[in-house]
Amino acid sequence: MALDAALQARLAEAGQEHLADAVRAAPEAEAAGLLAQVEELDLGLLRRLVDELVLTEPEAHGPGHIAPPETVPLAADEPGRARDLEAAEQGEAALREGRVAAVLLAGGQGTRLGFDGPKGDYPFGPVTGKTLFAQHAARIAAMRARYGAGLPWYILTSPVNDAQTRASFRDAGFFGLDPESVRFVVQGTLPAVDRGTGRVLLEAPGRLALSPDGHGGLLSALRRTGALDEMAVSGITTFFTFQVDNPLIRVADPVFLGHHLSAGADMSNLAVRKREPLEPVGLIASIDGRTGVIEYSDLPDELAHARDDAGDLLLWAGNIATHCIEVAFAWELTEGGLRLPYHRAVKRVPFVTPDGAAVIPDTPNAVKFETFIFDALPFAGASVTVEARREEQFSPIKNATGNDSPATCRRDWNRLWAGWLEAAGVAVPRDGSGEPVDLEIDPRLALDAAELAARIPPDLVIDGPVALGPAGP
Ligand code: UD1
Repeated sequence: MALDAALQARLAEAGQEHLADAVRAAPEAEAAGLLAQVEELDLGLLRRLVDELVLTEPEAHGPGHIAPPETVPLAADEPGRARDLEAAEQGEAALREGRVAAVLLAGGQGTRLGFDGPKGDYPFGPVTGKTLFAQHAARIAAMRARYGAGLPWYILTSPVNDAQTRASFRDAGFFGLDPESVRFVVQGTLPAVDRGTGRVLLEAPGRLALSPDGHGGLLSALRRTGALDEMAVSGITTFFTFQVDNPLIRVADPVFLGHHLSAGADMSNLAVRKREPLEPVGLIASIDGRTGVIEYSDLPDELAHARDDAGDLLLWAGNIATHCIEVAFAWELTEGGLRLPYHRAVKRVPFVTPDGAAVIPDTPNAVKFETFIFDALPFAGASVTVEARREEQFSPIKNATGNDSPATCRRDWNRLWAGWLEAAGVAVPRDGSGEPVDLEIDPRLALDAAELAARIPPDLVIDGPVALGPAGP
């Protein structure tokens, strides 16, 4: 297939002239598709990323002056409870007035779990095997009902899983939600490049090796697809972002929203205490005086292990990747291109050689580029970090076994739900080691312990695994 001279020149300038050869050599049926992919590349950005992150050794610089972040601590006493109550009132008002949207990050590839398909389709429910998407949807429905709120739901997908994600929602009748109230936003992709030469890899003779551009790509995607305009027009000022793999998260929690709003923050965080110094969670910290997140892979060991005078972890604030973000701040961060820094990840990426031979490398051969949503924090005029109880809000499904796996998530759910039932005066059978039977409580029945106590009969008997559905026991 012929290539126009201007494109050929731009490819040469970007050090990617091999792509012109690849288009010419591609099988006829695939050449047009490949050309379209090549034309979509942001060659200026690619040149910069290759120069800065592939061809030059990134400078090893220390993370700067690191201290624990200022946080709104857990309410442990009466003033703390009064403070949270006041925040909840503000958050509830924002929900009732329709000023809040929920944004689910679900564009990742979920490689560690080894689950084929969108991670949201993973059946985690201990009793019914309900999926992560179903759980989040039920919670959104419950929040809408409780606050009479629109609470539109935006779901970030990527070209890798967009079609499947939409199909899952369609097949499930949008889990009972109005399809108009759920919007899919597809994030962008960036090519993987050879780590030695910076040349874009092809995964097949007619296809570039592309992968999602990281969840920082949410911001560009919201702008590009018109979602930010739509939010502005419908009076939404704040959106709440959460990760698909954490079914415990309290979506659009009024207490968190209220602290964010009353501080006049641009972007805020939920934090949990790290379980151990090397737990693979980002660290929320004050970095040279500004709130930011240091990804676990970049945290020097001695900082991870540092202790305070009481012997507790000094840098304790684990990032659960849950934020409140102002719509106006998202506009600012995407004006004239995304302002977030790019990170490099060195990975094994299968590719084809110019003569069409498929190579499955044994060692990391490629660099992928990503932006992270939490890198927006240092740009925020104000930011608050609110501490959450891990057992109430964080038990992600990341790995097939061990920590942060389906087994630990189900265990944590069972414990939480058993606690709610017992607080309502219902006995829950437990095994020899004190673990409760498998349980499920639908968020549409109860979003918290108090609601559950009000909605179940006090003489409810539980004698085995049970799922309490939206209509009650
Ligand atoms: C992430 C955070 C880490 C945090 C931990 C808590 C990053 C880089 N790190 O780690 O600081 O402590 O979660 O659970 O996020 N996603 C997209 N598009 C992408 C990439 C990811 O939507 O291009 C979504 C995924 O679907 C998932 C979430 O972002 O919902 C997190 O991605 P993942 O790669 O699993 O991050 P972790 O390494 O677990």
